[in-house]
Amino acid sequence: MFKVGIIGLGHVGRAIAFNLINKELVDELAIYDINKEILIANKLDLEQGGALNNNITKINIADFAILNECDILINTASSKILSPDRLTELKENKKIVKEIFKNFKNYKGIIINVSNPCDIISKLILDETNIDKKRIFSSGTLLDTIRFKMTLANHYNISPKYVFALVVGEHGESQVLCYDEVKIKNDTLITYLKKNNLNFDKKIIDQEVIKSGANIFYAKGTTEYGIAGVVSFIIKQIKEDTNAILPLSAPYIIDGKLIYISHLVKINKLGIEDVLMNLSLDEEESFKSSALKLSKLLYLN
Ligand SMILES: NC(=O)c1ccc[n+]([C@@H]2O[C@H](COP(=O)([O-])OP(=O)(O)OC[C@H]3O[C@@H](n4cnc5c(N)ncnc54)[C@H](O)[C@@H]3O)[C@@H](O)[C@H]2O)c1
Repeated sequence: MFKVGIIGLGHVGRAIAFNLINKELVDELAIYDINKEILIANKLDLEQGGALNNNITKINIADFAILNECDILINTASSKILSPDRLTELKENKKIVKEIFKNFKNYKGIIINVSNPCDIISKLILDETNIDKKRIFSSGTLLDTIRFKMTLANHYNISPKYVFALVVGEHGESQVLCYDEVKIKNDTLITYLKKNNLNFDKKIIDQEVIKSGANIFYAKGTTEYGIAGVVSFIIKQIKEDTNAILPLSAPYIIDGKLIYISHLVKINKLGIEDVLMNLSLDEEESFKSSALKLSKLLYLN
């Protein structure tokens, strides 16, 4: 039995739940939210959503004991989001995760944090639970990587399947778009542009990627499907023990201090493991400055 728990059944939690049910990835989905009315309504709605698939996934309303038995826990609990600036969520979400994760001191599975600011919240979960740091991480810049890939594909009118892109660093304003690592149909970005006589405006692409979440938020008050696709993909890698290499927010030491920041890691059923990241000097410098920003935010708050 493969059991996944979702903490927080708001926009993001339920989009992830629906995605997992449709992909038939999970035998049992344990759902938990502080708002019991929302929880019961979502259980019924999700069950109806899976009915024509013969409800392959069993949905349970969970307490902490049930959540502790899950193979994977996804945290999406948050206070009401008032601004697309993820850092404004820190004060309230810090209290929420402390309250929740004091109940997971002996948890044996893998925790994927989604709640923002996700790099900092992941470290707070680690501190609260004190479980092996290989088993706590966040989706981090995997979503930004998808946004970078899609933006390049749309700009150059090419299928995203031909575009390799990578974003590392903070899941926020200091994220690093690794232009030097981009490959389009096996060409570097510069070669591809030259070959096809195309223009390139870094500022426009930067803004489109970095502000993507905020633009979606301003228009519809939430972002949900992108992150749901990303989290389901991560769960598939764990379940199938693929050893995929992905940019995820994982432990990293800067100036002797442990922080969470997105860099390349290998992921499998045991959790995450660092792999060598070969960035250009400029990218490496930007990554370090993003890490220093996160370290200040974490240790001065
Ligand atoms: N990492 C990413 O890439 C990414 C992408 C999108 C959203 N997010 C973040 O995900 C979080 C959730 O976003 P949303 O749109 O679903 O918000 P939302 O307000 O719709 O849902 C949050 C849910 O958390 C619940 N909750 C609050 N306190 C709780 C507690 N103590 N225990 C259990 N449940 C509790 C609320 O009742 C609510 O249902 C936010 O922090 C948001 O910024 C992250």
